[in-house]
Amino acid sequence: MLFKKEILLFLTCAAGALGVQHRNRAATSVFLLAGDSTTATQSANGGGWGDGFKNFTLTSPSFAVNYGHNGATTSSFIEGGDWATVLSNASQYSTTKTVYVTIQFGHNDQKLTDYVETYKANLRRMISDVIAHNAIPIIVTSISRRNYNSDGTIKDLLADWAEYAISVANEDGTMYIDLWKSSIEYLEKIGEAAARKLDLKSGDSTHLSVNGSIVFGRMVMDLLSEKSPAIKAVARPDEKLSADIKAGVPSY
Ligand SMILES: *[C@@H]1O[C@H](CO)[C@@H](O)[C@H](O)[C@H]1NC(C)=O
Ligand SMILES: *[C@@H]1O[C@H](CO)[C@@H](O)[C@H](O)[C@H]1NC(C)=O
Ligand SMILES: *[C@@H]1O[C@H](CO)[C@@H](O)[C@H](O)[C@H]1NC(C)=O
Repeated sequence: MLFKKEILLFLTCAAGALGVQHRNRAATSVFLLAGDSTTATQSANGGGWGDGFKNFTLTSPSFAVNYGHNGATTSSFIEGGDWATVLSNASQYSTTKTVYVTIQFGHNDQKLTDYVETYKANLRRMISDVIAHNAIPIIVTSISRRNYNSDGTIKDLLADWAEYAISVANEDGTMYIDLWKSSIEYLEKIGEAAARKLDLKSGDSTHLSVNGSIVFGRMVMDLLSEKSPAIKAVARPDEKLSADIKAGVPSY
C-alpha cells in the first residue's frame, strides 16, 4: 500500500523523470531517526532500536542516521535544536535521495501533566515540517517497556500515547507503524527470562542492549516493509530473525 505522502512524492518524481537526479532519489534511501532514548545509540543510560536498524537492515548505499536523544520529549527535541538538525539534513539529502524521517516519542512526554494536546500538536508540526523539507514522515508508536505482570502479560503504560500518535497519523494519511503493539505481542510470546537478555543492563527494562537493538531494529524494518514496497526494496533481509520475531521465538 502506498501512503498519500509517498504517492505525492512519487508523482513529483515522475513529473521530473527526465532528470537523472530524480531517478537516483528512488535508488538510495536515507532514514533519519528522530526520537528519545528508546531510539538512541547505546550509552550509559540510553539505548534503543535505532542502531540495530542502522547497522543491519539496509542495503548500501541506503543508510540511516540516529538522532535519538536521551530524555527527549517532542517539545525538548524541537526546542533543544535536534529537530532543526534533522530537518536541515533532510533538505540536504533530499536533493539526491529519498528521505524518510521516523518520529517516535512518548516515553518522556507521558510523564508530563496536561500534555496530550501539546504532544499531538508537536507531532502534527513534525509531520508538516518533514514534508516541507521534501522528506517522508513516518510515525512510530512507542516501543514497550519490558515490565511483566505475574501472569506473563506486559505491564503497559504507553497504550494511550500509541493511540494519540496513530490518531495524528490518521488525520492526514501519514504512514505509521505500530511498534507499541508489535513489541508487546513479541515480549508476551518470548516471556520475561528472554526479555531480560535484551535489557541495556540489569534493572533497566526500558533501554535496549546491542542484541535488543538488533531485534527491535529488525522489527521496525519488518513493519516498515509491510507498509511500504519502496522501503522493502532497500531493506537487507534477515529471514531467520524476521521469522523468529514473527513467531515470538527468542533470538538471544
Ligand atoms: C552498530 O555499529 C557500531 C559501529 O560498528 C557499533 O559500535 C555498535 O555497537 C553497533 N550497534 C548495534 C546495535 O548493532
Ligand atoms: C546533519 O547531522 C549531523 C549529525 O548526524 C550534524 O552533525 C550536522 O550538523 C547536520 N547537518 C546539517 C546541515 O544540519
Ligand atoms: C548477544 O548475543 C550473542 C549471540 O547470541 C551472545 O553471544 C552474546 O553473549 C549476547 N550479548 C549479551 C551482552 O548478552
